[in-house]
Amino acid sequence: MSTTPSDKGPGKQADSSGISFTALYTGAVWHRYGLSDDVLTTSQGRWLYHLMTPFEAGSKALIGGNIRTFLLQRHLIIDHLIEQALERGITQVLEIACGMSPRGIRLRDRHPLIHMVEADLPDMATRKAARLLVSGRLGDRHQVVPMDILAESGNQSLEAVVSGVFDNNEPMIVITEGLTSYFSLPVISGFWKRLAVLMQQLPGSVYLSESYLMPQQPFLRGTLKSLGGLLGTVTRSDVSFHFNNDQQARDHFLATGFPSVRVWNPTEFYGHLPIPESRRDPMVRVIEARS
Ligand SMILES: C[S@@+](CC[C@H](N)C(=O)[O-])C[C@H]1O[C@@H](n2cnc3c(N)ncnc32)[C@H](O)[C@@H]1O
Repeated sequence: MSTTPSDKGPGKQADSSGISFTALYTGAVWHRYGLSDDVLTTSQGRWLYHLMTPFEAGSKALIGGNIRTFLLQRHLIIDHLIEQALERGITQVLEIACGMSPRGIRLRDRHPLIHMVEADLPDMATRKAARLLVSGRLGDRHQVVPMDILAESGNQSLEAVVSGVFDNNEPMIVITEGLTSYFSLPVISGFWKRLAVLMQQLPGSVYLSESYLMPQQPFLRGTLKSLGGLLGTVTRSDVSFHFNNDQQARDHFLATGFPSVRVWNPTEFYGHLPIPESRRDPMVRVIEARS
């Protein structure tokens, strides 16, 4: 099951496990806002939640939005788009970089017939599987598997996981939430290209993810660059803002190989979904790419 460095392709970041602890913070946010299950709570997550609270309150007061604002925006919009895809008849769902996301639990509770596969780096996948196992939720239709998006071959690669777990004549919904911005654009585009190829083989498939636009306002731009640098140091990753605007994001996904791309601004869901509203243009966008 191990991924050797040679699986990663030349010049690729070899190990992105430094990112994993951030899943404990997002997990605590989902729980705090009533979206999660007690079985997914962690003491480290609760501690991080308290640690971050003054910073979150400060940025909410100063700029009218904070991390919790965009986490809830992206999470609930992705949920909404998943529901739409399920209504179109898709029954296979792959949540990559699942961390302590409660989405698999919620989806299976609402749609018992779907095949839910959660995937993450081996340590996080083991941790998640243990939580689901004690709550009696693991089984043929709800699995947790090790996957490394940087692996281009071997059994932890995207291709091996999809062909191993799904009916490969049927479309799938693929989600990456809170993952892609930890990688430089060239590195994450390598993963997107492989995903686009795979989705072309399963027509009707949908990819859902989020992206953060680089703000144009100089003060905000500078502040976010510094905070991104800090997060990059702490997580040993290449935290990046990939796009300046919606058009650039859309063009990039089209060029990467997805034939149909929609970039959703949270403002389009104000009043329709129970998401917090940002004072200015939200910095997060949800990407919906279809094959
Ligand atoms: C910010 S957390 C997001 C967790 C979850 N999606 C959520 O929104 O709560 C980032 C997740 O990405 C996972 N991750 C980091 N590098 C990865 C890789 N190369 N392949 C798959 N998952 C990875 C981490 O283990 C962690 O669970």
